[in-house]
Amino acid sequence: MDCTVAGIAPSAAPQVDFALVGHPESWSAAADVFSALRGPEQTPLPDDEIRDILPWIPPRAVCRVAVKSIAAAEAHGLYIDSFIPPDRLDAGCVQENLTRVRAAAAYAIKAGARIVSLGGFSSILLEGKFDQLPPGRATVFTTGNTLTVAFIVQGIEKMCALQGRNLWQSTLLVVGATGDVGSGCVRCLAGKVRRVQLVARNVERLRRLAVELEGEGVEIEIGTDLAQFSEQADLAICAASLPSPSLLLDNIAADALVCDAGYPKNLSPDAETSRATVFFGGLGQITGGLTFDPDLRGILNHHPFPDVAHGCLLEGIALTLEGRFESFSRGRGAITPKLVEEIEMIAARHGIYLAPFFNGDGPLPLTMK
Ligand SMILES: NC(=O)c1ccc[n+]([C@@H]2O[C@H](COP(=O)([O-])OP(=O)(O)OC[C@H]3O[C@@H](n4cnc5c(N)ncnc54)[C@H](OP(=O)(O)O)[C@@H]3O)[C@@H](O)[C@H]2O)c1
Repeated sequence: MDCTVAGIAPSAAPQVDFALVGHPESWSAAADVFSALRGPEQTPLPDDEIRDILPWIPPRAVCRVAVKSIAAAEAHGLYIDSFIPPDRLDAGCVQENLTRVRAAAAYAIKAGARIVSLGGFSSILLEGKFDQLPPGRATVFTTGNTLTVAFIVQGIEKMCALQGRNLWQSTLLVVGATGDVGSGCVRCLAGKVRRVQLVARNVERLRRLAVELEGEGVEIEIGTDLAQFSEQADLAICAASLPSPSLLLDNIAADALVCDAGYPKNLSPDAETSRATVFFGGLGQITGGLTFDPDLRGILNHHPFPDVAHGCLLEGIALTLEGRFESFSRGRGAITPKLVEEIEMIAARHGIYLAPFFNGDGPLPLTMK
């Protein structure tokens, strides 16, 4: 396996402290990475050719990543794209995709990474079973979901404060409530709202979560029918493991606040949320310094603000800057408010904070409701 990044001589390569394993969120994101790798001198490939080629590209490092902490630490790593085709994230392709995640993990181990953040579906596919990954004595893995939860919760609380909403009187809807991210959010917020509505497909898991929350002094409702709940919710967190943006929140109240934390996004572009405030959540911003080599800024992190990335990827970076090479988030269902508080303090110590608010239309105006 060749662990070099295009255009960089291996001898000149700095050490690899961390690796970030990601996958394209959409075909346009895949096309952007693809044309950056081919170089500006090559004419971009038409979409249908990219769709034909992508399934044949093995996981590989697409760039080096250097991060500076505001506390003077530095960390060097690789962004490894597993190149899971965006239309193959569904249940029918689990084995094929697991093979890709294992290959990406093997790449990170061979490159000498001490910690690997498993972004988005990379960790979902493993269902918390890290023993499915190749053994690497000096390499540990983290799902990064604890920092993701921290940024989702911070986003909800900050937005409520900015818009003058009363969190304590709110009804909070969580879609994907029994998942690693969803259940972590529920544990952090249940004691701070009046009512929680928990939605997923498996009722038994919903019941178990509801039992766990008894004693928080919150009203709890569980259900599999999103439409039944959505019109009563003041706040909604969408954290379902959907292979494509397909969630419709048609009944959502006009003045609701919705955090879409999916990777890929949960909300369908056709969702009738026009009057609600929607923001993309679970994202953080590196303020000490972030560089990519080759320069894939705006291609890997396609956001309207600089140096913004998914919480799951930032967790591995924060742990590296802190010198804590450990499986901080192992999944599933083990994220507690105490762990969330610990990882957000580590991240903040190194200048990794909640990202500015934006959605698919761009930055959000931060005005009172
Ligand atoms: N923003 C970020 O930085 C970031 C970081 C990490 C992860 N994520 C994203 O967050 C999402 C959740 O990740 P996770 O690790 O928590 O996944 P997970 O542990 O697999 O949980 C997925 C949850 O979604 C539910 N679900 C799946 N399909 C559903 C459907 N059609 N309708 C309603 N609920 C459904 C599952 O329950 P049932 O199976 O019972 O329905 C479960 O509650 C993913 O999109 C992931 O990529 C984002």
